Amino acid sequence: MSHRQTAANTYRLRVECPGIAAAAVAGQFAMLRIADRVDPLLGRPLAVYDTYRSAEDDAPQGEISERRFADFVYVVHGRFTTALKSLAPGERMTLWGPLGNGYREVPTTGHLLLVAGGIGQTALLTLGRDRAAAGEKVTFCWGASRGAAFGDIDDFRRAGLDVHLATLDGSSGKRGTVIDLLDSLFPRSGAAETDAPRHVACCGPDGMMAAVSRWSEGRGLGCHVSLEAPMACGIGICFTCVARVKDAEGGWDYKRTCIEGPVFAATSIDWS
Ligand SMILES: Cc1cc2nc3c(=O)[nH]c(=O)nc-3n(C[C@H](O)[C@H](O)[C@H](O)COP(=O)(O)OP(=O)(O)OC[C@H]3O[C@@H](n4cnc5c(N)ncnc54)[C@H](O)[C@@H]3O)c2cc1C
Ligand code: FES
Repeated sequence: MSHRQTAANTYRLRVECPGIAAAAVAGQFAMLRIADRVDPLLGRPLAVYDTYRSAEDDAPQGEISERRFADFVYVVHGRFTTALKSLAPGERMTLWGPLGNGYREVPTTGHLLLVAGGIGQTALLTLGRDRAAAGEKVTFCWGASRGAAFGDIDDFRRAGLDVHLATLDGSSGKRGTVIDLLDSLFPRSGAAETDAPRHVACCGPDGMMAAVSRWSEGRGLGCHVSLEAPMACGIGICFTCVARVKDAEGGWDYKRTCIEGPVFAATSIDWS
């Protein structure tokens, strides 16, 4: 296990978990808990950020099926992440996954726009890399409150993504929200240009994803979002993770984010 700080209040953990590392697709997650501890008792969901063959690799190598290690990147938030930050060498973790649907339904359109808010970049790296490797143009826009929140940005550049940043305090990238950044990169008048994105994949806080959903709809772009709902089991049993999801007939139903999600078509989510 290796562990390092990547940004303000943000850490990157590498765990040996071959079953997860060799099978995870972009946007899937795992449930993690610190073994032999009762506080917190329940696991917490973290996106599978990237996967590796060895504990020492600093870039993914070889076939996915050969991967044995997964990296998770987390912001210190509450009881679990506070305990995780101080994990002693040799302490054991319990993980289950890979879980959820991932970004499987995101279509190949020629230009994919990835939009992250806060720690939402963790769900997007492998999606961007896979699509860039397949020849698709991938633009990555990441918004945060301040520049100190951005960590390991070079992972995204090395993955072949065109990276743009926005911060509320203007300390890094464009000053403003990620929507301000999107407006400046892709003004409405330019939407018909061949270089404009054709589809959006997004992860971040609900308010930001609702805004990205409206932004995409306003430009006629499809959009998929990954919901960060609180979860207790991760495997469909407890129903703590439900979200209101609209159906084609104009009604809605509760869907389990851990099983039917976490990725949904943005227009199907009831953001109210
Ligand atoms: C599919 C998925 C992937 C995720 N990936 C990552 C990741 O890669 N990195 C990362 O840092 N976080 C990620 N999260 C969020 C992370 O699981 C939560 O922040 C988790 O609760 C942190 O545990 P904690 O014990 O530190 O905080 P907690 O004690 O669980 O939470 C502290 C406070 O935050 C509230 N809260 C908890 N979870 C959420 C939430 N999701 N949204 C809003 N409020 C919440 C609680 O009600 C509580 O008041 C992901 C969530 C999901 C569903
Ligand atoms: S977390 Fe238990 S049903 Fe989704």
